[in-house]
Amino acid sequence: MSQPALGERSLDLTDPATFVDNDVHGFWREVRAQRPVHWHEATDRHPGFWVVARYSDIQPLFHSEALSSARGNVLDVVLRGDDSAGGSMLAVTDPPRHRPLRNLMWSAFTPRVLGEVVEQIRQRTDRLVSAVVELDEFDFAAEIADQVPINTICDLLSVPVEDRPELLQWNKMALSSDRADSSELDAISARNEIVLYFMELAQERRDDPGEDVISMLATTEVEGRLLTVEELAVNCYSLILGGDETSRVSAICAVLALIENPEQWRALRTGEVSVESAVEEVLRWSSPAMHLARTAIRDFDVDGTKVRSGDIVTLWTISANNDETVFEDPRRFTLSRSPNKHLSFGHGPHYCLGAFLGRSELNALLSALVARVGRMEQRGAPRPIFSNFLNGYESLPVHFESR
Ligand code: HEM
Repeated sequence: MSQPALGERSLDLTDPATFVDNDVHGFWREVRAQRPVHWHEATDRHPGFWVVARYSDIQPLFHSEALSSARGNVLDVVLRGDDSAGGSMLAVTDPPRHRPLRNLMWSAFTPRVLGEVVEQIRQRTDRLVSAVVELDEFDFAAEIADQVPINTICDLLSVPVEDRPELLQWNKMALSSDRADSSELDAISARNEIVLYFMELAQERRDDPGEDVISMLATTEVEGRLLTVEELAVNCYSLILGGDETSRVSAICAVLALIENPEQWRALRTGEVSVESAVEEVLRWSSPAMHLARTAIRDFDVDGTKVRSGDIVTLWTISANNDETVFEDPRRFTLSRSPNKHLSFGHGPHYCLGAFLGRSELNALLSALVARVGRMEQRGAPRPIFSNFLNGYESLPVHFESR
């Protein structure tokens, strides 16, 4: 199917269908060249906002004290007016509260806990890949990519196994959809379900603590007081929110890119390129979170453009990750790319708390593919995700030959 020519036309970045129906990389190339910082006009449903597209502008803005995350860090939420979790959930908390809260969350990611979780990731991924090799056809998203991230976070939080499928379903509804017609209301009610679920679990662990991460968060003070049950719940949710879909889409994107670039798959299988280097290119290439949103809390200047206090600012990391002034031939999938300072995990104070886990999941996937799989074949079109935040696909029909 040929893509519509973009010309001078602007795309509606608030509309999820925009990212499915257009040559998005062509659009960003043009934006970086012609209007790297520009105002996105208001639509009949949403106010206007700033769009920032170049790496050299975006990277420093991640550190800017003129920008706040407290009204939300995803465009859809900020456009609605406010994030109800602002000031409670780590990702949408500003200094000075952000630092002590982040330290508490960090202490849940100790080497001992992570070491065990990484080993579980490796075993789970290897088991899943072994089970699909030589099947006539299967959906890589459903059989493998859906299974690893949610179970990793649930292992971390000791969520009972029987509750996990429902959490996965809610989370899919909360962030994106494979249906173009799904409503914002579905997403909001799914988010509420997740928070309510974790409130109940947090209360149970506070009353009867165990060895798990929720119990630790429930019984440790931050700035002289325990977190409320609501704060505990939104921060548990933030681990799912941050770590499930992003990891999932990057895994699906990895397999698709390896199928479409057989010489890169060969280089990985023969050990010509390391798994670690391949993981970084997959992260750059997939850019799972296409943008991060902020709100200006004072006037400032970016690239000669005046941004006023109260304005919404969007930082398009998918564009930064393909900025030709930083990445040579950016639309080539090059597993050996070095340096590869992509912004897929963000930058600065909110840099992804789960970056190590995200990398470990991709590392486990690529290692299992190298160990078990020979030829990979695509068996149909992947189904795209309708979202202006998440980049990628919901399904990917494939066949794996054994090695
Ligand atoms: C923050 C991406 C995996 C938990 C972020 C941010 C990005 C990101 C871009 C910055 C948000 C901002 O600046 O507003 C990703 C990607 C992942 C991934 C691409 C996988 C490929 C994970 C995992 C977890 C996680 C596995 C948890 C287990 C978080 C949390 C934050 C965060 C809690 C907020 C940190 C803060 O505000 O201090 N992530 N993430 N992420 N991520 Fe991830």
